[in-house]
Amino acid sequence: MTDDELLARADAVASRAYAPYSGFNVGCAVLTRDGTVVEGVNVENAAYPLGVCAERTALSRAVAEGFRPGDFAVAAITAAPCGGCRQWLHEMGVDRVVFRNGGRTVTMTPDELLPESFDSSDLT
Ligand code: THU
Repeated sequence: MTDDELLARADAVASRAYAPYSGFNVGCAVLTRDGTVVEGVNVENAAYPLGVCAERTALSRAVAEGFRPGDFAVAAITAAPCGGCRQWLHEMGVDRVVFRNGGRTVTMTPDELLPESFDSSDLT
């Protein structure tokens, strides 16, 4: 699967977002190394801070299915990932992140998205 095809999956799933407060639908499609695609959408809540981003929905689903950090090749997102999701993408060891930003399609590594990050090595 190409990055463009994965981004198309993210575009398609974004229509299933639950975003009645912001009206901003986000889709994420994660490609694992074994070729599985796991999709996620943002899920908002009347208690606004409890909403969940599309990236975290997708990665949580993948973890529940048995995938672990290092199992992920690509994450495609219909919008630029927020700071918290950059931390999640970093934790999960995604090889590269493809996302739309201002009409462009951008590809970056988690390290580029979140340099000098806090990670498990800081806890030892
Ligand atoms: N959102 C995401 O799903 N992912 C991001 O990385 C950026 C923001 C969602 C959260 C909220 O439901 C909506 O976009 C507006 O901020």
